Amino acid sequence: MKYNLSNIKKSINLLNKDECIAIPTETVYGLAGNAYSDRATFQIFKLKKRPNKNPLIVHYSSLDMLANDCETNDIFYKLYRKFSPGPITFILKLKNESKISKNVTNKKKTLAIRFPSHPLAKKLLNSLNFPLAAPSANISTRISPVSKDDVLDEFGGKIKFILDGGRSKIGLESTIIDLVGKPKILRLGGLDRKKINKFFKINIKYFHKSNNMRVPGQSKLHYSPGIPIKLNVTKTNQNEAFILIKKRKKTLKNYYYLTKTKNLKQAAKNLYKTLRKIKNKNYKSISVEKIPNNGFGEVINERLKRASIK
Ligand code: TXA
Ligand code: MG
Repeated sequence: MKYNLSNIKKSINLLNKDECIAIPTETVYGLAGNAYSDRATFQIFKLKKRPNKNPLIVHYSSLDMLANDCETNDIFYKLYRKFSPGPITFILKLKNESKISKNVTNKKKTLAIRFPSHPLAKKLLNSLNFPLAAPSANISTRISPVSKDDVLDEFGGKIKFILDGGRSKIGLESTIIDLVGKPKILRLGGLDRKKINKFFKINIKYFHKSNNMRVPGQSKLHYSPGIPIKLNVTKTNQNEAFILIKKRKKTLKNYYYLTKTKNLKQAAKNLYKTLRKIKNKNYKSISVEKIPNNGFGEVINERLKRASIK
């Protein structure tokens, strides 16, 4: 996709004035504001209706700027060199002298940070003299947006500007790894955790749901299209949308394929788009065919489970 320089300039101007805008990343779109600004970060929570105990991820383009805010360690550098920029978020110790707004961390002594690889996000971050706090650009508990239209579907005209960077390539949020103390995965996501395990030649633990108190947003309803979801379904009726990954001989009107070639990466990319499409029709519920629980399938299953909590 070509840069539209006037849109980048507009984004820079608004962010410099402590306004929030939506920005594209390779995972999902983010609702971004100056992470050093109380005003901008307050707006993010307000627009998203996000409980203020749920801390934000801060996006950087360089290690130089990060050095003002976080303490780094060897494992961080190793992972950074291998996987950044890209769909991995690191939890690091916050420096006492950091200027990160208190709104971002909710008094925590740690900070979630990420280096996005989307060219527009990189270009934008390179043009600013502050990092960007950016949670996914959706109303709290709802489906994350993977395109400009999705952000509009969430917020209508409430956001000052949406920087259009096309469809997010990965379509799922970043994988979160906690590097304060023994490394732990706190959220499955766009970077397959097997790749991290292979790199370290050890199995890094995934702290999910009940035993994971570090990620408040993870223990309850999330990624929800607002109607009931049933998993591992084999047969449906026409009043419910049916999400599939195996091609059928006959395709009915209520069938929604995440992939027709059993490609789980493609299925992951299509997940939120498909849930949003279904949400905007009049279905009473969603049924999902069994999805293999490996690689991106594991992440899809985890998101669907959270989306189906009653
Ligand atoms: O791919 C992504 O990570 C996207 C794009 C926009 O970068 N962002 C994203 O942000 O998914 P958000 O706010 O929707 O999810 C951030 C998660 C939340 O569950 C939050 O609780 C957790 O990160 N988090 C933030 N700071 C943390 C911290 N210091 N310790 C543990 N978890 C933290
Ligand atoms: Mg989110």
